[in-house]
Amino acid sequence: MAAVSKQSVTSVHHWNETLFSFTTTRDKSLRFENGHFVMVGMEVDGRPLMRAYSIASANYEEELEFFSIKVQDGPLTSRLQNIRPGDELMISSKPTGTLVADHLLPGRHLYLLATGTGLAPFMSIIRDPDIYERFEKVILVHGVRRIIDLAYRDMITNELPQNEFFGEQVKNQLIYYPTVTREEFVHKGRITELMLNGKLFSDIGLPQPNHADDRFMLCGSTAMLKDTCKVLDGWEFKESRHGIKEHYVIERAFVD
Ligand code: A2P
Repeated sequence: MAAVSKQSVTSVHHWNETLFSFTTTRDKSLRFENGHFVMVGMEVDGRPLMRAYSIASANYEEELEFFSIKVQDGPLTSRLQNIRPGDELMISSKPTGTLVADHLLPGRHLYLLATGTGLAPFMSIIRDPDIYERFEKVILVHGVRRIIDLAYRDMITNELPQNEFFGEQVKNQLIYYPTVTREEFVHKGRITELMLNGKLFSDIGLPQPNHADDRFMLCGSTAMLKDTCKVLDGWEFKESRHGIKEHYVIERAFVD
């Protein structure tokens, strides 16, 4: 197995009965790009049990942050959901992944399309001042079942615009578009539906995406990725692959 380091849990936040976030210490030598993932885990019956987790914190922060679901019979998350500050976790030493701005052609609008815990890598990216230099508008779309699943909503709407370093850019350039599928809410429906019927674009006041201006990063379940890629492919956007920069990149929200 790739090199791992032992890190301490520094905080745990339970959003609800299905979602939680936690922070850990960070190895001084750990370098990553915003949007990358690492393997996170713990020892179970004397053996390491590790799963891929996107890093939700930005790469200049002292600690690492992760956002996870709780699966009651999940081999790792059934245990991980009970961690407390001071507990030890294993974290791999080589972050990697495709959800990085460098993998995309330059553009004007960056759409970050997430469902569920697929939000994690985008929490890192929207806290990266460089992303606001590269794109005029950054549109974060978070699709969830229930309003209480809109984790980080308060941080995105209230805290980030006050950030002393990039708050102004967040205020002027970040568009947050939460959408809920199983309850009444200001924005309702799956991301795919909202793209296909054009409501997402009319609601935020941007034109229908075109190949010159619009770029996409996708993170969600396998089904969400498949269906969202289908929408983009139908509009003849291309996925960046094998080092060739195109219009969109994808990564799975890993833990089932
Ligand atoms: P829905 O409530 O219609 O299933 P989950 O918790 O299952 O990962 O879902 C998170 C959000 O992603 C929900 O709003 C869910 O909508 C939506 N979703 C599930 N499957 C897809 C898909 N194939 N394409 C787009 N959105 C999806």
